Amino acid sequence: MEKNILVAGATGNLGLKICTALINRGAKVKALVREQSDSDKVKILTEAGVEIMQVNYGNPESIREACQDVGCLVSALAGLGDVILDTQKILLDAALHSGVGHFIPSDFCTDYTGLIPGENRNFDLRRAFRAHIDSSNIKVTSIFNGAFADILKYNTPILNLKSKTIAYWGDKADWKLDFTTMENTAEFTAASVMNGHSHRDLHIASFQISPNMLHQEILGLTNQDFFVHKLSEMDEFAASIKKQRSENPSGENELYAKWQQAQYIYSMYSTQPQMLDNNLFANLNWTTAPEYLKSFIKR
Ligand SMILES: NC(=O)c1ccc[n+]([C@@H]2O[C@H](COP(=O)([O-])OP(=O)(O)OC[C@H]3O[C@@H](n4cnc5c(N)ncnc54)[C@H](OP(=O)(O)O)[C@@H]3O)[C@@H](O)[C@H]2O)c1
Repeated sequence: MEKNILVAGATGNLGLKICTALINRGAKVKALVREQSDSDKVKILTEAGVEIMQVNYGNPESIREACQDVGCLVSALAGLGDVILDTQKILLDAALHSGVGHFIPSDFCTDYTGLIPGENRNFDLRRAFRAHIDSSNIKVTSIFNGAFADILKYNTPILNLKSKTIAYWGDKADWKLDFTTMENTAEFTAASVMNGHSHRDLHIASFQISPNMLHQEILGLTNQDFFVHKLSEMDEFAASIKKQRSENPSGENELYAKWQQAQYIYSMYSTQPQMLDNNLFANLNWTTAPEYLKSFIKR
């Protein structure tokens, strides 16, 4: 059982929830924060019982010190290559140096391992770090949660509450998409850290729902008949994303450029896990689709 846990990215939306979930499971949690980290979030962490380790990622010695006596390092960092590759490599080096036994990289996304490199910029960065860490002598677990369920609130083509539309591509009106709440992701991550299992990859979803199922759920909930429609074939979708990307080079420096969001949706429509690991650990309460939809869709 891993009791001393170090969390990088602890001031982030997911990181903060992971810290809380770990503490609720009896872990002793240390958080890596930076001088420029949001002081309100650092205060929340402190009040939750997290030990704050202010470090300079440019000074590997400070990270090594923070890794002393740590059983597992959880990374919930968010960023582009400088973070997902460079900063996570710094974390990994420190973890290896200090004898940390388990590393959870900041994947927390759709399982990209079967997807085609080049299709999704943010997944390419994760794939590169995965190749790097898998050549090291440390236990690694990636958690694949599909999309955070919040995406359903943001009026994307998947569900647009303003235009009352639900879109899909190709013949995928019955293709199930994986959504996981951030709370469920954090609780599962904490359970995975504390359990001492040996799985390399774990797949979870609070709920899996197709465009047609989403339509039925919303109809039942609101009595409103959203329009389910096909936007294009999948290959046309892929070509339009490539075009958007080539026409928007500044998006290469943005974490969630518009074309990257489209790449994410394309990935969700391209891969589905064979099996979910939701039941691997006991006592986790998964949010259902009706519960989640009810939390933000008005009747
Ligand atoms: N599946 C999905 O739909 C989905 C959606 C959103 C996010 N995610 C993933 O979930 C994970 C966490 O994302 P999030 O939304 O919780 O992130 P977030 O709220 O943006 O937090 C990012 C964290 O990373 C840290 N960070 C950023 N740049 C850094 C740097 N250069 N050096 C050190 N620390 C740095 C921040 O620390 P400071 O406070 O010091 O800045 C913060 O703690 C990421 O892997 C993200 O891609 C998945």
